[in-house]
Amino acid sequence: MDQAVYLVTGAHGFIGSWIVKRLLDAGIKVVAIDKSADPRRLRLIMNDDEIGRIFFRECDITDGEQVGRILEDNGITHIIHLAGLQVPTCRANPRLGAMVNVIGTINVFEAARNSAGRVKRVAYASSAAVFGAPEGDQAVTEGDAGGMNTHYGAFKQCNENNARVYFLDHGISSAGLRPLTVYGVGRDTGMTSDPTKAMKAAVVGRPFHIRFGGSTDFLYVADCADAFIRAAAADVSGAHVFNLHGETVAVTEVVTEIERSIPEAGNTITVAETGIAMPSELDDAAIIAAIGEIPHTSLAQGVKETIDRFRILQAEGRLDTSDLDE
Ligand SMILES: NC(=O)c1ccc[n+]([C@@H]2O[C@H](COP(=O)([O-])OP(=O)(O)OC[C@H]3O[C@@H](n4cnc5c(N)ncnc54)[C@H](O)[C@@H]3O)[C@@H](O)[C@H]2O)c1
Repeated sequence: MDQAVYLVTGAHGFIGSWIVKRLLDAGIKVVAIDKSADPRRLRLIMNDDEIGRIFFRECDITDGEQVGRILEDNGITHIIHLAGLQVPTCRANPRLGAMVNVIGTINVFEAARNSAGRVKRVAYASSAAVFGAPEGDQAVTEGDAGGMNTHYGAFKQCNENNARVYFLDHGISSAGLRPLTVYGVGRDTGMTSDPTKAMKAAVVGRPFHIRFGGSTDFLYVADCADAFIRAAAADVSGAHVFNLHGETVAVTEVVTEIERSIPEAGNTITVAETGIAMPSELDDAAIIAAIGEIPHTSLAQGVKETIDRFRILQAEGRLDTSDLDE
């Protein structure tokens, strides 16, 4: 059997860095691409020797020819596609958002199509933004998507539909995963990065205000990374979309966990009243039924691991706190 070679797009991003690390830890060959050549998030969780084992190519996902060439030149067999722009950028510049998030995803599927069956599966990042803001606090299942309230969410659902057509027309199997609030070392942009920033602020002894309250579905980044890797590796035919679920808790409970690790942070972290316009819980029965249990790190453990890593980085004099000033 040919050796598996994984392409990770958006590999210098938050989730991408963790996926690259875990693939390398498992001895899997990784080709990493990103528009940004800056490996700063990889450096937060990997040493220079490990980073040296990554085959990196700077690539804009909107350049379909280059994406195709990279796939062919490296004999890619599996794709984990994460490259994309976040909610604020898509809101400010929908044309650019569509180019990167929708056409970029088409480019990935076209490259898979042109591989003539060598690419076994595409796992790509969709999002809980496909649900819009449903009424009530019941857990949402895959079929509840709709009513998107952002271009970002609309683009993600468009990708899910295009993935389905790529299976119907060309037999390309895929899994679109929908996380909600992912946290952990390397999370430094967007509103839902605030809980991770609060952990960092507590480590450096600074006050911090989390800009949303209520409850949300918190997923530890290591578990999120494992879900993507399993979805890419699973021998499941068809075009699937799967919710990811971590732990649905009040944002104030995250603060309690931070204070458990850092008692001096007591009363220095405040939380807004209003929740984010998203469901507060995603039902993940479908992914478990399709590919089995996904590792689950408790909120307490995930917060502790994140704080421990931030402390190490601080002791080494390389804890970047510029994101706290956003
Ligand atoms: N972090 C979360 O809580 C969360 C929740 C739901 C969905 N997602 C989705 O998961 C994926 C990864 O999220 P993340 O938090 O790691 O985001 P991130 O912003 O940290 O990483 C995205 C990466 O994509 C790269 N990128 C942007 N435009 C590009 C382009 N034109 N060509 C190539 N690379 C480009 C960026 O340089 C960045 O490294 C995204 O698609 C995101 O929409 C994330």
